[in-house]
Amino acid sequence: MKKSLFIISLMCLAFQLQAQKREVQLLDTGWRFLNKEIPTTNINQVDDSSWQTVTVPHDWAIAGPFDMTIDMQKVTVIEDGDRGAKLRTGRTGALPCFGIGWYRKALNISKSDEGKRIFVEFDGAMSRSKVYLNGVYIGEWPYGYSSFSFELTKYIQLGKENILSVRLENKEESSRWYSGAGIYRNVRLVKTAPVRVAQWGTYITTPVVSPKMGEVNIKTEIDGDEKVQLITEIFDAKGQKVASTKSEGNKAFEQKLKVNKPSLWSPETPVLYTAVSKVFVGKIQKDEYKSVFGFRTIKFDRDKGFFLNGKYTKFKGVCLHHDLGPIGAAVNFRATERQLVMMKEMGVNAIRTSHNPPSLELLKICDSIGLMVQVESFDEWKNGKNTNGYGEFFDQWAEKDLTAMIKRDRNHPSVVMWSIGNEIREQGMPEGAAMAKFLTKISHDLDPTRPVSAGFNNWKGAIKNGLAAEVDLVGFNYAPDFYEKMRQENPTFTIYGSETASTVSSRGEYKFPVTPSKKAWYTDYQLTSYDLETCSWADLPDYEFQYQDDLDWVAGEFVWTGFDYLGEPSPYNEGTPARSSYFGIVDLAGIPKDRYYLYQSKWSEKPVFHVLPHWTWPDRLNQKVPVFVYTNYPKAELFVNGKSMGTRVKDKSSMLKRYRLMWDDVIYEPGEIKVVGYDKNDKVVAEKIIKTAGETYNIKLTADRQTIKADGKDLSFVTVELLDKDGNLCPRAANLLFFDVTGAGKLKAVCNGDATDQTSFASKYMRTFNGKLVVTVESDTTAGEITLKVSGGLLNAEEVKITTENLTK
Ligand code: GAL
Repeated sequence: MKKSLFIISLMCLAFQLQAQKREVQLLDTGWRFLNKEIPTTNINQVDDSSWQTVTVPHDWAIAGPFDMTIDMQKVTVIEDGDRGAKLRTGRTGALPCFGIGWYRKALNISKSDEGKRIFVEFDGAMSRSKVYLNGVYIGEWPYGYSSFSFELTKYIQLGKENILSVRLENKEESSRWYSGAGIYRNVRLVKTAPVRVAQWGTYITTPVVSPKMGEVNIKTEIDGDEKVQLITEIFDAKGQKVASTKSEGNKAFEQKLKVNKPSLWSPETPVLYTAVSKVFVGKIQKDEYKSVFGFRTIKFDRDKGFFLNGKYTKFKGVCLHHDLGPIGAAVNFRATERQLVMMKEMGVNAIRTSHNPPSLELLKICDSIGLMVQVESFDEWKNGKNTNGYGEFFDQWAEKDLTAMIKRDRNHPSVVMWSIGNEIREQGMPEGAAMAKFLTKISHDLDPTRPVSAGFNNWKGAIKNGLAAEVDLVGFNYAPDFYEKMRQENPTFTIYGSETASTVSSRGEYKFPVTPSKKAWYTDYQLTSYDLETCSWADLPDYEFQYQDDLDWVAGEFVWTGFDYLGEPSPYNEGTPARSSYFGIVDLAGIPKDRYYLYQSKWSEKPVFHVLPHWTWPDRLNQKVPVFVYTNYPKAELFVNGKSMGTRVKDKSSMLKRYRLMWDDVIYEPGEIKVVGYDKNDKVVAEKIIKTAGETYNIKLTADRQTIKADGKDLSFVTVELLDKDGNLCPRAANLLFFDVTGAGKLKAVCNGDATDQTSFASKYMRTFNGKLVVTVESDTTAGEITLKVSGGLLNAEEVKITTENLTK
């Protein structure tokens, strides 16, 4: 009898040891979705059998259809210099992301979960979310970009099916860009013991970092009343334990550890460490919580610029909106990674998450591939830019939203600064300084290690009302010619370009005559890829480069934008078919525009030698077709059909010649152009030939990855190009192509980068835009092979095969 009691108690102990550690379950599959209102009186009794079954992250609007009347806004955009209201079209992407959406998911909570605490964590839900469990209202979080969680424990019915319901609502005139719609970021169910590490409950700083030793300070917040023992262990990137410590207490802990010879985090060496927090009551482990961090130092010096790990570093940054082009707002790890890797390859070292808290995925990727990040909170405070925008929530929610952002993100080594706002209207209002002071204080209290910034367009107002003096770093939007003056007049300002350039272009389009313009407008709603056109308030890349090069103390720039995004189709934002931006250095499909190579030639260490335009101009016989080369070599010579057009050398005497090699007077004749590049010793180091293309003949498919994970989420991006019979790209081809995906995956999205194309991103056919488009295929959860077949008219159909594997990583 005694023996069996002993065995039972041993089993109980083992059960407790095991069962009380946190369990995290991704709530991704099996959601039901309805895109309209239901009565909130009896939510739990709703029959959802006719609702759509969806997986989360989910964007209910991205498949369209496009409709240019959606969210047409009669609005005065003072930031764009509007003097009166205009009827703006395409401002939020012309996609149906407005109205109400309901999500329901059954959670099976077993009797064995008795005694546990149960939470639901949302990385983001767009927007005005209201969460219910078993019909009972649990809580709400209006700002669609914030992460939040609710405790469900007391509403749970053990051993039964529990229904989690979420109501979302997007109002028209609530955004300046495509917000997306739905539970567009991940949701997790988390079960813990009564005592646990609180959500975002660790705050890790590294007050001393030297080659010999790194001091780690970890504040840990324990949620629960029991007295606990907290063991914190630090593991290096190889998984070796490099430090550990133990303390006893309750609620709040502060532990200090030392790590010998820490490897430093930087864009070149993105080394990460992991702190594992283990919570014990007596001998029983109650929780385990992991936090990733890094060792690095940051220093902003108003006279010298920015230093990372003591090394002078300029921000070669881009602003990114949160959408993933044709995939929409629904977070996808691979699509995010692809964007960030393309930026990194261009030479980018920093991202500004304009103008809202980013996905967790973005930060994880920036940590691991080495990109610094400015995390931005708001595009508007109380005096909103949108009738139904954040202004409505500011008083009640700003502190909560900013706190959620900083608590969630403050351990990431990639994050080097916070922004409390972009082009806030309060720049010109008496209350501006007090509001900035309030937000800066919240940020400093939660994280004294990083400076607080804001992006100013009305800097005169912000200086006058004292707002600019309330931030640590003064970000200027589109004002390089004022950097020097502002610094002289404001001896406390540390300055950088928070938003620069806003050059506009369409991939593969070239307009004549080739002259810089701030007012370009063409009847085909495209813009030149000679990279000479900007909006009225904006500048060419080269214009900003000069100031960045000549003023060491400017900490760098963040270009508007790395990728095209949905919405804000300036300058075609009034009564046109345009529904996405022209600002991107890369188009909406993810195909680099010419400008990509201009930035790469400036920012990257690798050799760049890019020639534009194409050489197929049947309508420009004997007319001028200028040739440009974007390169980090100093000199090149151009030949047209073997005849030299002369050499060009980078030349500081003019803004454009300083950064581009240009032959302005080339007369077009079919055949070929050849450009030969020279290094500074006049040695030939590069050669590029572009030939006049014939008729479309072949379809060429290039998958970015031939093997992907069979996890129902991984993606392969297949670039489709139309070639003539000699293999030249047909640079104006607009053929309608059809896509057929069979096997172990599905068609996820298709996009050609044309901002005016109204074909759904979920369509099985689309025209190429200037000879190219991208088809994205997604794996399903069974390993196998995906076949994408692309056909069109008389062209021979082509296939590409992608293997999907059950990989552990
Ligand atoms: C800025 C604004 C951005 C975007 C950009 C376009 O004023 O901060 O969100 O609108 O202009 O040039």
